[in-house]
Amino acid sequence: MTDEQEGSDAEDTAASGSAPVPPVAPRTQRPPSDRLSGNKTSVCSRSYFVVVMVFFHVYIINVIALLFYVHYSSGGQEDASQSRDAPGGQQQQRAETRRPPSKADFLRDVSLARIEGIRVGHVQSVSLAPGKVHDMRTLSLKPLLFEIPGFLSEDECRVVMQLAQLKGLMESQLMVQDGQEDLAKELNLSPEEIFNLLDINQDGQLQLHEILTHSRVRDGIWLTPENLREIYAGLKADKDGNGLLSLEEFRLLSSDAFQRFLLQRGVKRSQLVRNSRHTWLYQGKGAHRVLQDIKARVTRLTRLPSTLVDLSEPLQVVRYEEGGHYHAHHDSGPVYPETACTHTRLAANTSTPFETSCRYITVLFYLNSVEGGGETAFPVADNRTYDEVSLIQNDVDLLDTRRNCDKSNLRVKPTKGTAVLWYNYLSDGRGWVGEQDEYALHGGCVVTHGTKWVANKWINIDPDYQRQARYQQLVSRQPEEEDDEGSTPDPDLQHSNIHQDL
Ligand code: OGA
Ligand code: CA
Ligand code: FE2
Repeated sequence: MTDEQEGSDAEDTAASGSAPVPPVAPRTQRPPSDRLSGNKTSVCSRSYFVVVMVFFHVYIINVIALLFYVHYSSGGQEDASQSRDAPGGQQQQRAETRRPPSKADFLRDVSLARIEGIRVGHVQSVSLAPGKVHDMRTLSLKPLLFEIPGFLSEDECRVVMQLAQLKGLMESQLMVQDGQEDLAKELNLSPEEIFNLLDINQDGQLQLHEILTHSRVRDGIWLTPENLREIYAGLKADKDGNGLLSLEEFRLLSSDAFQRFLLQRGVKRSQLVRNSRHTWLYQGKGAHRVLQDIKARVTRLTRLPSTLVDLSEPLQVVRYEEGGHYHAHHDSGPVYPETACTHTRLAANTSTPFETSCRYITVLFYLNSVEGGGETAFPVADNRTYDEVSLIQNDVDLLDTRRNCDKSNLRVKPTKGTAVLWYNYLSDGRGWVGEQDEYALHGGCVVTHGTKWVANKWINIDPDYQRQARYQQLVSRQPEEEDDEGSTPDPDLQHSNIHQDL
């Protein structure tokens, strides 16, 4: 349809639609008397027509201009997303560093790549090393979780285990944790105040799960509801036997009654939150070739700037004996203004009272195929809702990986060489790290036969962009300033440009 045709259509509509003359018959059939009156109104309708046409053309020009604008601006975005989706990390980084942001508005210019899950069961191929392609399957969307079989070769698995063995593994969790008592004494808290702290739902009673959560978080001791009832009985704490502790019942207990009772009775390794041994393997310059290769492939897989991966924690290698486990937990902490990330703490110029690990991504490698048990469980993966309270019920404690792995929504069987990757944080919608993903809760089920070896590669990113940027500037600047002019630049520090571009 041409503009003119559109115009005349518009005229018709305008003339018949808005003129107060009743539309009797088609114009061609109008009687002469009508024509006379038609002449009278035609002056009126001609000027009306001109006005309508002017408005109409302005409207059309605006629409065309808008179409051009949309076309060109979305074209630019398409370019960026295409390179973000490219399997090799190189193109992605080029897109990120193309436009160096000014310091003031770098937040807007940064966009951390995030792998798309599409749907559970979706398989995409990823190229992690020249000439090597892997299938990556989406296991869940909440958390965003993938499985990549054959990420490590048999040899690589063997080398990593041997290097860890050579370095020596230490207990992941010590039996008794001291220092907490001093804190309580220092604060000089009354029994009422302690009771109030423990009473999470503020109903004036201490439910079993309130005490359980407390002892797990504070002491790292994994009590079951039965253990707790046993302790209550031993201490004659629950006088009315209703399974709850009232303030009166709580007052009669000494502040360290629970701990003394546990120490006397003895705590077994199986009663700890984590029952394994681990060590750390540095992956930077000078590290074993295999360790450096793994890091390079993780960088390609995550499509994050290599600096972020380079500056992350070393590889953690974990060994579970038969009977070993790791109850459900988060690898990362929640984002609160008063909480700093461990990795950027030194660069944070404010002194925040709390500290947590900020691990944007976990890549977990299975270094052997376990004979029995040892699955990685995700109790609430892809749940419709997340309800913290319902995780610990009297009869079923979904966090307990010694008992209830079978009730987890998702379990990954440890298979030698397979890697699983998940995001511990959501996106903030602007290309940076957002809120902690509560669905990323996971744990290691009890190993029923044989031993289990895994390795964790965590990618640390501070959800506070400015803190991450400051930290990167700090670590990239220091050695450079010491650098002599003639010396070859340290390849690990050549990323300093990327730091600033973040
Ligand atoms: C961990 C962990 C799970 C597993 O080491 O943080 O969650 O299956 N491991 O061992
Ligand atoms: Ca309560
Ligand atoms: Fe974990």
